[in-house]
Amino acid sequence: MIIAIDGPAASGKGTLGKRLAEHYGFAHLDTGLLYRAVARVLMDRDIPLADQAAATEVAQNLDVSHLEDDSRLRGAAMGEAASVVSAYQPVRDALLAFQRQFGVKASGAVLDGRDIGTVVCPDAEVKLFITAAPEERARRRHRELLSRGEQAEYETILVDIRRRDERDMTRSTAPLKAAADAVTLDTTHLDADGAFRAALAIVERKRTSK
Ligand code: CDP
Repeated sequence: MIIAIDGPAASGKGTLGKRLAEHYGFAHLDTGLLYRAVARVLMDRDIPLADQAAATEVAQNLDVSHLEDDSRLRGAAMGEAASVVSAYQPVRDALLAFQRQFGVKASGAVLDGRDIGTVVCPDAEVKLFITAAPEERARRRHRELLSRGEQAEYETILVDIRRRDERDMTRSTAPLKAAADAVTLDTTHLDADGAFRAALAIVERKRTSK
């Protein structure tokens, strides 16, 4: 069984994906980390993010083994840079097979990102589209960055989130959007527990209706 979770920046997809995976004993892949890792390699090598050919080569040779443990990937700068390289079709193509295999290999998997329900796992049994008001998402990201010891201004984060949403939704390749058969969950007024309970109810409804 595959649970596909998509949604905009800081909507809580990652936290939710992790909790659903733990609940069902499924594998979990935060696909944003793949794009963040591509951006990080470019930045480490002082290669401009605008260099599509270099980004593609990095994506084709990406070491995906320790993404979860790399806290630098979770920083604000990396999210912004990831959104630039993720708009390149050849970069997305290079990362597609790994994501698809991840879903197939495990007996159950949760994948979260922007295009899981639409492109990566169009046949996923359950598709969730997680949203929240930009101001609330900026508040959550602000708290998260501060707790990780990063310098962060709420206003700057809000601007970043709006810019990233716009870029992710309007790009020509795999734009951020809900799949036709996705269930949308607005978490603006839900905390992490509330979002988990609401998502669990949706997943259980889908499972029992099969
Ligand atoms: O945690 P947050 O939502 O801020 O970011 P993320 O999920 O790690 O994604 C970072 C960037 O990678 C996004 O802004 C997207 O541009 C890109 N991304 C994507 O294009 N497709 C995915 N499946 C996942 C992320």
